[in-house]
This record gives sequence, C-alpha cells and structure tokens, in this order.
Amino acid sequence: MSEDALNNIRTRRVVREMSDEPVSREQIETILEAARWAPSGGNLRPIRFVVIEDEETRRLIRLVSPGMFQKAPALILLCLNEDVMIEHSLPASDRALLIDVGTAAQTIMLAAHGIGLASGPVTSYSKAAISVILNLPDSYSPEMFICIGHKAESTRRGMKTWKKITWRDLTHWERFPQD
Ligand SMILES: Cc1cc2nc3c(=O)[nH]c(=O)nc-3n(C[C@H](O)[C@H](O)[C@H](O)COP(=O)(O)O)c2cc1C
Repeated sequence: MSEDALNNIRTRRVVREMSDEPVSREQIETILEAARWAPSGGNLRPIRFVVIEDEETRRLIRLVSPGMFQKAPALILLCLNEDVMIEHSLPASDRALLIDVGTAAQTIMLAAHGIGLASGPVTSYSKAAISVILNLPDSYSPEMFICIGHKAESTRRGMKTWKKITWRDLTHWERFPQD
C-alpha cells in the first residue's frame, strides 16, 4: 500500500461541523464510483445509495436525526435492498448485510477524504420517518447516512476523546491460552 493511501486512512476524521460550501455533482459521482468497489459478501451487492442535496429535504431529515450534528450540503443514505435478500434467500439477520454497510461506508468516507471533502456517518435517526420523508420503496431499509461537505473553519463539536488507542490495545496474536 502506498504511503498516500495509508495517510488517507490515518488522517480521516469524522467532521460534525460543515460549511455551506456546496459539493459538486462530479465529486459525489467520484465517491459513488469508489463505493462501487467496496467488498460485498458473496458479491451480492445489497446496498443502494440515495443522494440528497435538496435543502428542504435535508432540513426534514435533520429534524428526525438526533445524531446528525452537521448541516451537510449532501447526504448519501446507504439502504439495504430487501429484494436482493429475497432473491438470494438471505435472512435479514445475515451478518454479511451490515458488514456490507460498513465496507461501503468506510469506502465512501475514505474516497471523500481523498478528494479533500469532509464526511461523517450517522445512524441515530428514525428509520420510519426517513422512509416517509424520502418515500423509500418498501424494499429499501435505511441503514446509515454519510454526510458529505467541507469542514467548517472553526469546529467546536467533537465526540468525547478516550485514552489514545493503539492497534496493540485492539489486537491479540494467535490462540488464547487455555485456563
Ligand atoms: C456504526 C457507526 C455509527 C455511528 N453513528 C454516528 C452518529 O449517529 N452520529 C455521529 O456524530 N457519529 C457517528 N459515528 C461516528 C463515530 O462516533 C466516530 O467514528 C468515532 O467517534 C471515532 O471518530 P473518528 O472516526 O473521527 O476517528 C458512527 C460511527 C459508526 C462506525
């Protein structure tokens, strides 16, 4: 992996305060094209993307999304398409489905960061209200928003910072010892 790719991974941070500067259609398409390459369990590709730029729709979405602190100029909603699950006899509980949401989400955020944009994931919202606001097809289950925009010049908001975690804190090598 090139040093640039590693740096892109290391320096991406969730941004919760964004400016009003718009994001171009070309930038969104670049991000979506990257997301298409995210790994997918069985290569079944159950994720569908819904892009929201309309100001009033974004306002309504924020009203039902307590975890969305950003006023982002563009939102990408990751939906699981239940038609794909039915077609392949996958139960909704199949863990590959949410893993697919994760691989797509991280690919989107890294792609956004790679082209100089800020991003932030949001899972804290009313799924029922989002389905109504966006008039989602019954088969679309809204799983995660990724807010896309530009980092505000001065940012105050951040999540509580825990003690600095290193990869060593998160990793165990080989078999666990038996009692
Ligand atoms: C599954 C998942 C759900 C998340 N939901 C939210 C959310 O609703 N609102 C929010 O501000 N951040 C959300 N985050 C972002 C995390 O809080 C953030 O990734 C974490 O604090 C580490 O920050 P960093 O990614 O900048 O290192 C979510 C992240 C993940 C992976």
